[in-house]
Amino acid sequence: MKIEEIKVNKILDSRGESTIEVEIESEGFKEKASIPSGKSVGSHEAICLDCDKIEKNLPEFLKEIKNFDFSTSQEFDNFLIERAGNNKEKLGANFVLGLSIAFARLLAKLNKEELFVYLKREYESDKFSVPKLVINIIGGGVHSFNNLDFQEYWLVTKEGFSEKLIADVLNVINNIEKKLPKPLGRNDEGAFCTNFSDNYEPFIYLNQFKENFELGADIAANQIKKELNWKEIYTNLKRLNVLYLEDPYKEDEFEKFTELKKEGFKVIGDDLTVTNIERLKIAIEKDSVNGVIVKPNQIGTIKETFEFVKLAKENNLFTIFSHRSGETNDNWIIDLGIAFEADYFKIGVPLQGERVAKWNRLIEIFKRLNF
Ligand code: PGA
Ligand code: ZN
Repeated sequence: MKIEEIKVNKILDSRGESTIEVEIESEGFKEKASIPSGKSVGSHEAICLDCDKIEKNLPEFLKEIKNFDFSTSQEFDNFLIERAGNNKEKLGANFVLGLSIAFARLLAKLNKEELFVYLKREYESDKFSVPKLVINIIGGGVHSFNNLDFQEYWLVTKEGFSEKLIADVLNVINNIEKKLPKPLGRNDEGAFCTNFSDNYEPFIYLNQFKENFELGADIAANQIKKELNWKEIYTNLKRLNVLYLEDPYKEDEFEKFTELKKEGFKVIGDDLTVTNIERLKIAIEKDSVNGVIVKPNQIGTIKETFEFVKLAKENNLFTIFSHRSGETNDNWIIDLGIAFEADYFKIGVPLQGERVAKWNRLIEIFKRLNF
């Protein structure tokens, strides 16, 4: 496929901040992709550029890309990887990912396939897994306006996605909403947000659901600027039945992650591993994690996301395909997760449009697959 036209549009994300939508035109077809943005951003993530800068670079990029003919998404992504610079700083990881997804959508359209079906075929991934969900029920940290230091308080489902699971999750939300301290608001991701007596109290509320769900947290330690007694914190969290811990220490503290893993927690890298295969290799060598967050905009292409997931799976690490706190209504994260056999999705509660868009895509795909 030869690229005829590329457009970059400045649009809004769910925080009302500007983000980009990328449109590609080829052989009479047009496809778009919009890109989310994080607030709790790791310093090792690929670099995003603002829309004006991307638009400035566009004419030269378009002139060059028009000389090529791409037959697969991987060929197209290789072209992007070569030109974007080590950290995607020349083109912007947000622009690169918009191109990568919009182009894969064009190929899917040309083949009259859904995006996840096309990607499964191109990447020769023939298995379907039924993902579980990591649900951010109570929020704190930089996503919220309350006194909690930790960013996300989770319930993790023990079963895979199904209609029954949706009903169970909505029941939990209704139930907990009545009990939580008032006034009660919602944060960037739709998680409940209010003041608590301390960082532990939310887990007391979540423990009433421990028969059917496991407990976890995204500590997002990198964002916590005050001094805390981490040893005491993790002793307390163990006592409160917290099993999953995302980013329990700062982004370069691989060894501290390793220690926590030895204590029996299921330790997850986000700012630690940033969907980057080189960071993942270090985490594997140091035995720092049980699982990893997968956020394609931390790295910039579908191909690099696939390679990261492949290495994680080869090392028996589970994968959590995740939204960002500043989202759009686009739903490609679900297609990528289904294509690459995500073990979990972290897509928020289904109570705000940009999160509902992901839940609805999951529902649509599972209906189509007759699950
Ligand atoms: P972010 O937060 O999207 O603001 O980076 C999500 C997370 O830390 O998992
Ligand atoms: Zn995180």
